[in-house]
Amino acid sequence: MEKTEKIWMNGKLTDWNDAKVHILTHALNYGTAVFEGIRVYQTPKGPAVFRLREHMSRLLDGCKVMGIDPEFGGRTYGLEDMVEAVKTCIKANKKVDYVKPCVFLSGEEVGLNPVGVPASFSITCIYMGAYLGGASTEGAKVITSSWQRPDNLCGPAGAKINGTYVTSCLAKREAVRQGAKEAVMLNSAGHVAECTGENIFLFKNGKIYTPQSAECILEGITRNSVIEIARGMGYEVIETQITRTQLVTADEVWMTGTAAEVVPVTSIDGRTVGSGKIGEVSGKIHAKFHEIVAGKDPKYERWLEYVN
Ligand SMILES: Cc1ncc(COP(=O)(O)O)c(C=O)c1O
Repeated sequence: MEKTEKIWMNGKLTDWNDAKVHILTHALNYGTAVFEGIRVYQTPKGPAVFRLREHMSRLLDGCKVMGIDPEFGGRTYGLEDMVEAVKTCIKANKKVDYVKPCVFLSGEEVGLNPVGVPASFSITCIYMGAYLGGASTEGAKVITSSWQRPDNLCGPAGAKINGTYVTSCLAKREAVRQGAKEAVMLNSAGHVAECTGENIFLFKNGKIYTPQSAECILEGITRNSVIEIARGMGYEVIETQITRTQLVTADEVWMTGTAAEVVPVTSIDGRTVGSGKIGEVSGKIHAKFHEIVAGKDPKYERWLEYVN
């Protein structure tokens, strides 16, 4: 990760090194925060944010789930205000490919009661590069985590709540320790849910499958984009329950996420996926995705929010 110059906080641009919080910040101690991850791409029309409105809507939904009113620094924020704030922050920085907005309970409190604790809204821009390194073009080795994807009885599985990501961090450490790029997480029913920060797809006998939303997944914006792209290419995409056996015996497997983008999986728990090489379908979807985000496909230009 490369730092940038300015961080947006409650309506003001602050120098990177001055964007600090108190040690008793409620969110730091109890995970009471909601965040987003958004990509910025270079296009012939200048920098463009991929599906910015969808990301900020999901952030507002997460605030609703957490019971956090979007009032920061004495002002109430709606969707358009949040969209403009993200653009302001991108414009204030030189080299940006990833934006991380975060709404967090910033009041200094000891005790779990979140009621009445003031909230803050920060927007951080960074240069991330490829989140999973060369895996995007070479294929990724993944493992199945011993940690399960928290289900809807543990918390709101469909929202990006900071505290929930402890499980993802445990699973990611497990993967890295085993020399893998990512970990697949199963849900409490033993079905395939998703990876630590990515949704998952498989291709078998001519059809594409991905876990349905009731499987305790985050309904990824890249997942939604890839479903639309694949259907546009003529593939049948089925959202359903998927077992570990179905995943391991698939012809192709790939992950999708804002940070990771579209990453083919070539090995799961030491078993080769398909031919062990990047498959035709995931290769085609990967190429189309990158054409779209580079602003080269007019059909999907509606997904790009130009910064200037
Ligand atoms: C747990 C989890 N699943 C899936 C995704 C993919 O979602 P998106 O495509 O919206 O980035 C993410 C990333 O935000 C994630 O954190």
